Amino acid sequence: MVNKGKIVIIGTSNVGSAVLNKLMDFQLASEIVLIDLNEEKAKGEALDASHSTSCIYSTNINIRAGSYAECKDAGIIIITAGPSIRPGEEPDRLRLAYVNTKIMSSVMTEIVKYTKDAMLLIITNPLDVATYHISTTFDYPREKIIGTGTLLETFRFRRILANKYHVDTKNIHGYVLGEHGNSAFPAWSTVDVAGLGLEHLDEYFHLTEKLDRTAVEKEIVQVAYDVINWKGFTNTGIAMAACRFVKAIIYDEHTILPMSAVLEGEYGIKNVALSIPRMLCSTGIVRSFEIRLANTELQLLHASAKSVRLALDSCTR
Ligand code: 2OP
Repeated sequence: MVNKGKIVIIGTSNVGSAVLNKLMDFQLASEIVLIDLNEEKAKGEALDASHSTSCIYSTNINIRAGSYAECKDAGIIIITAGPSIRPGEEPDRLRLAYVNTKIMSSVMTEIVKYTKDAMLLIITNPLDVATYHISTTFDYPREKIIGTGTLLETFRFRRILANKYHVDTKNIHGYVLGEHGNSAFPAWSTVDVAGLGLEHLDEYFHLTEKLDRTAVEKEIVQVAYDVINWKGFTNTGIAMAACRFVKAIIYDEHTILPMSAVLEGEYGIKNVALSIPRMLCSTGIVRSFEIRLANTELQLLHASAKSVRLALDSCTR
């Protein structure tokens, strides 16, 4: 029997602990279990977080360190385990493919001993490689495997455009698609700001210089490395993205967000996981949307598929 309020977080380093804290701030769980190879780290994070509960409405959130057996009745399992890109390293998440697919295998081998009912929210990089590996190596229901994917780049894109136009990010609609990584691209054809469309935005917002789309495209990818180089890691943005997915699941939102899952022939692509818009509710991914893309965007999506496929192939060589 699934306990919908129970969330298990695997990996309690910078990302796992940020996810824990945001889940608590937004009160998205009644029970949170932390699993880490370093059991003391998990215990320390749980204890520290428990000290904040007297100041929130749901003061009895049960937070503790635990073992994989805790996955048995979990509603959502969030996977953050594995190394991340460090400052000064080659800026490409795909470099982590080999080591992190091995880690995903050991994590999943444990999880499937206890459940195939929980939603799996994957954060570990390279995100699309991890999502594909988990989806195709383990007999786990596909609709329950959600890669956080380019929701984070989409947040970044909206922030960048909002800064350029001095407008509320919530007025900005538009997706970043493809790989969560260097080949992610904004699908400009999906962009709309408060019904004003895209074409005349510079005029509506009295931009003195035309928006440099190429610079925006580069910035979406580069900002992750800026954060890594400046603070050592990224965690706040991705923790917010994770909470957005958790909220969509627990409130059965049927919301449409970009997320990663295995493509089943959408845009003529198979054998790879990538982010495209998909609908999410309490039972998982309901369907994907093959939204109309411009030809250049289609080419970028196929290029993204190629990069991720190459990284997947390199893991088996
Ligand atoms: C991020 O984009 C590094 O994937 C991580 O923040």
